[in-house]
Amino acid sequence: MSDIPSMKCFDPATDGPVAFFKIFSSAVAPRPIAFVSTVAADGTKNLSPFSFFNFFSANPPVLVFSVSTPASGGEKDTLRNVRESGECIVHITDRPLGDQLNLASAVYAPDVDEFEKSGLTAVAGEAVNAFRVAEAKIAMECRLRQIVPLGDQRASGNLVICDVVKLHADEAILFEDGASIDPRKFASLSRLGGEWYMETRPDALFELPRPPGGDAMGVKGVLAAAPLASQLSLAERAILGTSSAPPDGTAVAAFAERWRASRANEEPTRQEVALLDHARKSLSEHKVDEGWLAILAAEQLSVPKELHR
Ligand SMILES: Cc1cc2nc3c(=O)[nH]c(=O)nc-3n(C[C@H](O)[C@H](O)[C@H](O)COP(=O)(O)O)c2cc1C
Repeated sequence: MSDIPSMKCFDPATDGPVAFFKIFSSAVAPRPIAFVSTVAADGTKNLSPFSFFNFFSANPPVLVFSVSTPASGGEKDTLRNVRESGECIVHITDRPLGDQLNLASAVYAPDVDEFEKSGLTAVAGEAVNAFRVAEAKIAMECRLRQIVPLGDQRASGNLVICDVVKLHADEAILFEDGASIDPRKFASLSRLGGEWYMETRPDALFELPRPPGGDAMGVKGVLAAAPLASQLSLAERAILGTSSAPPDGTAVAAFAERWRASRANEEPTRQEVALLDHARKSLSEHKVDEGWLAILAAEQLSVPKELHR
């Protein structure tokens, strides 16, 4: 069972907050980064990054970021500003804005304009009284719904729950239909543990088609239908298990016939190995039907199991 990792256990109750933060923040990673723009009561523009962030409701559209209580006590400018003004603009940034974002994360006095500090251009929001970063390719104008304090210690989070009232996106990063963001055109920046960051590079992207309906066969069902699937990896069996049923016998017979005809000179053992390879390759490309046909055609060749090793 070499797939099963050997686990070290961490316990916040005995490790303490500093040590637990290290493992926690490196475990829940990568995290998207909200680059949050607010305005203070005296009109000072504030800009700070927060990676305790995500969206939590589609209808209504709601995003949440969390502002920690600083070690010095009191509260961060962003939290005070959003509480007082009830508004903010949350940006999603890419690598080219990473250094400005890092610069904006330094602790500045409340009357310091952090747009000016980080060299970014402020554009007035359309729906809220806050400023958008002109250089950012994605910006969401938000109204405060609720602030939920999670504790009264240093590093306690304060959830800032916001309704998104407008979303602006650079037209150049959208899919051709203009409906959503093409991850191959926008390398969003995310945060891991310590000082590690990541960007979504095109070569790291892949798609996983969702299993159909609620009747996926699952891994156990795959092994029942095709015992030879035990020769595949767990992930490969999981891909087959997204089907609701294996292909019918006629389709398998037709596939096996075509396969045999194209490899008439090969021994059955070789053919079976080649079928398993074909199944693996098909599954790596998420061609689930083709994977099924190959594995079931291999079953039909019925070569003794020891020859698979
Ligand atoms: C990438 C990144 C992510 C951060 N995420 C958070 C976070 O989720 N919560 C938090 O309280 N501080 C976070 N910080 C630290 C704040 O940005 C920092 O405390 C900032 O000075 C707050 O500014 P403000 O007082 O102007 O609001 C993060 C810093 C960086 C660089």
